[in-house]
Amino acid sequence: MSIHDFERYPLTFGPSPVHHLDRLTAHLGGAQIWAKREDVSSGLAYGGNKIRKLEYIVPDVLASGADTLVSIGGYQSNHTRQVAAVGAKLGLKVRLVQERWVDWDDPVNDRVGNILLSRIMGADVRLNPAGFDIGIRQSWQQAIDEVEASGGTPYPIPAGASEHRLGGLGFANWAYEVAEQERQLGVFFDTIVVCTVTGSTHAGMIAGFAALEEAGGRPRRILGIDASATLEKTRSQVDRIARNCADLIGVPRDLRDDEITVLDGWAGDLYGIPVESTIDAIRLSGRLEGMIIDPVYEGKSMAGLIDLVTQGEIGKDSTVLYAHLGGQPALNAYSGIFGD
Ligand SMILES: Cc1ncc(COP(=O)(O)O)c(C=O)c1O
Repeated sequence: MSIHDFERYPLTFGPSPVHHLDRLTAHLGGAQIWAKREDVSSGLAYGGNKIRKLEYIVPDVLASGADTLVSIGGYQSNHTRQVAAVGAKLGLKVRLVQERWVDWDDPVNDRVGNILLSRIMGADVRLNPAGFDIGIRQSWQQAIDEVEASGGTPYPIPAGASEHRLGGLGFANWAYEVAEQERQLGVFFDTIVVCTVTGSTHAGMIAGFAALEEAGGRPRRILGIDASATLEKTRSQVDRIARNCADLIGVPRDLRDDEITVLDGWAGDLYGIPVESTIDAIRLSGRLEGMIIDPVYEGKSMAGLIDLVTQGEIGKDSTVLYAHLGGQPALNAYSGIFGD
């Protein structure tokens, strides 16, 4: 089996664009920095990394005969917004459990941004007071049972579409897309920087690049930046999903421990709460590149990239690819941190 043997239901415009970040590169004065943009690669509700994961899950949804997608996330979950969009596109009902993952007291946190978009797209949005957890939740099981009890046929999609047999495939394929774009652009990205929370984005990349390496590709570093301050749990989830995905796409060897790198230091104390470095990173990429990033995920991974480049952990001769995974709608619930 290889990645090419899996069916992919197209939900994106094509390969996500890759471009050089000239002014950020000059400002940091070190490695060359490029971005690959999942935030502008789909017409479905502002896109993002889950769209790409769902491209490999939708064939299974359609084969199952389900009529209702059931998923879970925080109030400002990008994932549930993307499930709502895919459900709308496919003509399926969508039931969403939105938990209070973040103790963020913005008065419109449960009304604007992602959750607003999910409501507009017709999802059945239910709020739940439970706190942050990337594991399988009771409330999600309950939603699945309720859909069944009311005569529906649910298709469960876990948080971040990560704990799903096919969850890593979208970003395994991302690795192949990168290799093709490198050929076209005449560059080689020796370092990838990616935000990691539920794990299958990073894990899929690890599996995909391992497959490419086994086929004669050059080795590279894939640096996951923890954005939830639950390092051990995140690392073990990435490890497990990466190994499953590598098996699935026929990587002919075990993954090495040193291929699974999750770095901490930029998450602050809690998922969903930006710290000073997050806010600085958001302002910097906005001011220098007109590139908007969010306070929950990409602001934290960009803060990591900035430090790793300026401290020389990523050397001057490196060419870095920053995976922009979307997430901007959540900014609406964080207006207070940017002043009047
Ligand atoms: C914008 C954004 N960046 C990064 C991530 C992290 O991806 P993953 O959950 O696959 O680790 C997510 C989702 O959780 C996200 O919505």
